[in-house]
Amino acid sequence: MATLAIHNGRVIDPALGRDGIADVVIVDGRVSRVGPNEGDMVVEAERIDATGLVVTPGFIDLHTHLREPGFEGKETIRTGTMAAARGGYTTVCAMPNTRPAMDSRPAIESVLREAERSGLIRVLPIGCITRNREGTELAPAGELAGAGVVALSDDGDAVADPSLMRHALEYATRWGLPVAQHCEDPHLVRDGQMHEGWVATRLGLRGRPASAEETFVARDIALAELSGGHLHICHVSTAGSVALIAAAKARGAHVTAEVTPHHLTLTHEEVGFGNDYRSIRYLTNAKVNPPLREEADLAALRIALRTGVIDAVATDHAPHGQGDKEIEFDLAAPGLTMLETAFGLCMKLVHEGDIDLPTLIERMTIGPVRAWGLDIRAGFDGLGTLAPGAPGDVAILDPNADWVVDPAAFASKGKNTPIAGRTLRGLVVATVFAGRLVHETGRVVTL
Ligand code: DOR
Ligand code: ZN
Repeated sequence: MATLAIHNGRVIDPALGRDGIADVVIVDGRVSRVGPNEGDMVVEAERIDATGLVVTPGFIDLHTHLREPGFEGKETIRTGTMAAARGGYTTVCAMPNTRPAMDSRPAIESVLREAERSGLIRVLPIGCITRNREGTELAPAGELAGAGVVALSDDGDAVADPSLMRHALEYATRWGLPVAQHCEDPHLVRDGQMHEGWVATRLGLRGRPASAEETFVARDIALAELSGGHLHICHVSTAGSVALIAAAKARGAHVTAEVTPHHLTLTHEEVGFGNDYRSIRYLTNAKVNPPLREEADLAALRIALRTGVIDAVATDHAPHGQGDKEIEFDLAAPGLTMLETAFGLCMKLVHEGDIDLPTLIERMTIGPVRAWGLDIRAGFDGLGTLAPGAPGDVAILDPNADWVVDPAAFASKGKNTPIAGRTLRGLVVATVFAGRLVHETGRVVTL
């Protein structure tokens, strides 16, 4: 029997309401027991000393672009899951904007096979809403459900046709799947390059207005209520969207939502100035869809995350190559490499008093699991908790350790981050997947 004892950490397991010093004992890949001094009971165990550290269920990301198949120059399942492990993640949901797009059983099965072969952690595939993500014809939801997808999404693009979106929600319900929509009206954003606001004006770049997101959030909520389907709103970025989601939830609509670490912490000013207000720049590493917004949006998003109007933090990890970013702003690919900086960025909210640590951990563990109903799906028992019998997936964290973001040191192939060189307070010290260490910083002592 392979036994791992994580000793004497502050165990935060929001699903069980647990927050206190305890040992976590993992036997043969599953949690065996959690409690004070439980580790002392096991003799033949590998031990990790977590004294002074926080021990939580491994993080779960509802929104990861792993890029394989088709864009292996940007990322592979191997490098993406390594980056995830470094970020404290033990489960990632893989977005289907690959080549080929994930709109058939063979495509999904190929990702599952490759994840089994080369993945460091659990990969749950997401299928397309429409064939080849073209927005004209529905993908075969039943076939995709049978192949094991956990949601449907055309992320990167919104399903613009409201009738198609209505039917997507109706069909997905039959298979118990959420429809995860990238809410931005393509007619309103057109060739917009960044948030429509004063920075865009100053830089002479065409804007993507907040209303491009909000009109689609409103429309899709109405369609969810009409169809009875489960609408999941990807990467919410505006205060207006937050208000719409809060109202929909209050009415009992089946709507869930996620927010990214960057939309919680960075504004559109990153694009024009980065770290340096004395010079104007066009920082393509801060180009992302939906775009980075304004302080008032950040404030609303932080409150929404604290109060549960937003269910989950999701990274939208979107690795791109140098050639995709070191070009004219209009031509640069949108997206940020995020898995390895997600926890450190989100800890800003804790250090600035916007959310407490257990609530943040909830939104990164059981929050996403419940949002997508994975807790009631066969095969995912115990995901997002450290209950006895749950998968032995653990993040070991130092909430107060400072570290400097160095993209060159990322496991991800993507180096496209606007926060290179910045100091983050909050470090993932080690990650355990199925009872095995998949990431460690040398800060934990194994005995
Ligand atoms: O900025 C983005 N990049 N937003 C998306 O929705 C897609 C993503 C990507 O795939 O690069
Ligand atoms: Zn998206």
